[in-house]
Order: sequence, then structure tokens, then C-alpha cells
Amino acid sequence: MRHIFNEGTSKDAPVLLLLHGTGGTENDLLGLAELISPESAVLSVRGNVSENGMPRFFRRLAEGVFDEEDLIFRTKELNDFLEEAAGKYGFDRNNMVAVGYSNGANIAGSLLFHYEHALKGAVLHHPMVPRRGISLPDLSGIPVFIGAGKNDPICPASETEELGRLLVEAGASVAVHWENYGHQLTRTEVDAAGDWFKKNFGK
Ligand code: MLT
Repeated sequence: MRHIFNEGTSKDAPVLLLLHGTGGTENDLLGLAELISPESAVLSVRGNVSENGMPRFFRRLAEGVFDEEDLIFRTKELNDFLEEAAGKYGFDRNNMVAVGYSNGANIAGSLLFHYEHALKGAVLHHPMVPRRGISLPDLSGIPVFIGAGKNDPICPASETEELGRLLVEAGASVAVHWENYGHQLTRTEVDAAGDWFKKNFGK
């Protein structure tokens, strides 16, 4: 998969896996990584699917309606890529925290929904419920930050709550941060994610 890998200044800090929103690229969230954990190594990936030229991590049938078969296929493809990248760049595959926005948060959520040891934690900015009606792996001890907008037309508040509930039922420790805005990512939400990260993964 097309990507950027930047070496960190700390070997112990989790590697940040950056996953952009629809129409984004692997460059988009590099600034977020700086704000959340400046000493971390960064693996920033570009989604392999193109929707009219806009990169995404999996196909959708309509706004908010996911192509489930493709979601499953792409989630495995990303998980396999993470394994490969860990070997190539020499980082610890088990020390990775995802930071995703929108479509990128949805594929990060899908990694959590499908693979037990995919992530050590996740920052999900404006995620949706990736799949329904499946049993989740054991996510005990995995911290998850969810940033959401009370007026997000793409992800209604009830869906944020549903996602939080599903992750908690699987054992994850979920922190939900609410903004009064829509689907956009605000500086206060990023700062809240940074504080959450330090609390959970700081020295
Ligand atoms: C998705 O398709 O993943 C969600 O609708 C969010 C987005 O627009 O990317």
C-alpha cells in the first residue's frame, strides 16, 4: 500500500498508524501525529480504493452504506500490510495505535472489530459502526478515544453511542469526546485526543 514511514525519536512510544478521510492522502494527518505524540514513529497509509479519484480505505454503496464484502477484504489487506511494514521498518507490530479520521476511523474500527491484536489502542475521529451482527474479538485493556460531533450529519450521536457500547462490551476502555459541531475535526478535539494519549500511553 502507498505509505509514508517516519522514524520516531523514541523506540518505546507507540507507532502511530495514520488513516485519512475520504479524498485524503497519506500526507493529511502528519500534523495530527505531531500534536498527539511527537516522539512516535509514524506509518501513514493511503487507502487502496478510489471513488471517482478520491482515495478511500474501502468501497461504499452510498453515503454511510458500506460495501461489507470489500470492507472485510480491505481490512485484511491493511492488517497484512501492517505485518509486512513492521518487518520492513523494524518496529514492534504489537505497539501500534491508530489515528483515523472519518473513513480512516472506520477502517481502524474495522481492524478492532475483526482482529484481536491489530491495535494497542485507537483514536477514532468521527467514526461510524463498521459492521453489525458480528461478535467482536476480546478487546480487554484496549483504550479507544472517540471524537464525535453532536451535529454530525454523517455520523449521528446515536451511532457514536452504539459504537462505544459495542467496543465496551468487547472489553475496550472507551472515552467519548463530544464537540458541538458537525463532521469536521476541530483543534479542541485533537487536543483532547492528545491528552487522552498521554494519559494512556505517556511515560
Ligand atoms: C465512510 O464512508 O467511511 C463514511 O461515510 C465517512 C466518509 O465520508 O468517509
